Amino acid sequence: MFRATLLTLFPEMFPGPLGFSLAGDALARGLWSLEAQQLRAHGLGRHRVVDDTPAGGGPGMVMRADVLAAALDAPGDDGRPRLLMSPRGVPFRQALAREWAAGPGLVILCPRFEGVDERVIEGRGLMEVSIGDYVLSGGEVAALAVLDACVRLIPGVMGKPESGVSESFEGGLLEYPQYTRPREWEGRAIPEALLSGDHARIARWRREAAERVTRERRPDLGG
Ligand code: ADE
Repeated sequence: MFRATLLTLFPEMFPGPLGFSLAGDALARGLWSLEAQQLRAHGLGRHRVVDDTPAGGGPGMVMRADVLAAALDAPGDDGRPRLLMSPRGVPFRQALAREWAAGPGLVILCPRFEGVDERVIEGRGLMEVSIGDYVLSGGEVAALAVLDACVRLIPGVMGKPESGVSESFEGGLLEYPQYTRPREWEGRAIPEALLSGDHARIARWRREAAERVTRERRPDLGG
């Protein structure tokens, strides 16, 4: 079973949106599990301190390597990839979601403050992962995005497996445009090919539309 362990100062943020709909139903059905651990449980002293001032000076605070290591070591190294959510990380992509969804789960460290002592990243072999080129106020929202993308790919979570086959990024393309009734709305008609009943023609139209959308919006995907 896919097991998600979150290490965070805000465990109440979980499961959050993952408690609803597809992911929430799958959680209730036991197709995956989630535990959110309070990092402060490993904090120092009476005030359970988890951060300190940056070596060399400068603004903000840095999360301590010893505290984070204690939190990471608590669940033990059971072979799950250990991620650190960070805008400096490798870009999160559908291929990673597919790989992780097929594995035993993830341990995800969600930092706050200015950053994390580099030594714990090296010492515990953390993989830094980014969900995009913008800065969030902490790793929790990024972790929710990564888990959402993984959980829906766990076998048995999606109703129809084929709905995962024609979606965006499968085959390196964005998804083709979709239409439903009415046939005409505000003077806009459904493309005629889709109403033809000719399956080969419909498939060709969708393929060409997906290639056009990908070329226009994401030439980097190489559609
Ligand atoms: N933490 C802050 N910004 C982030 C981002 N873009 N991706 C992952 N984690 C983050």
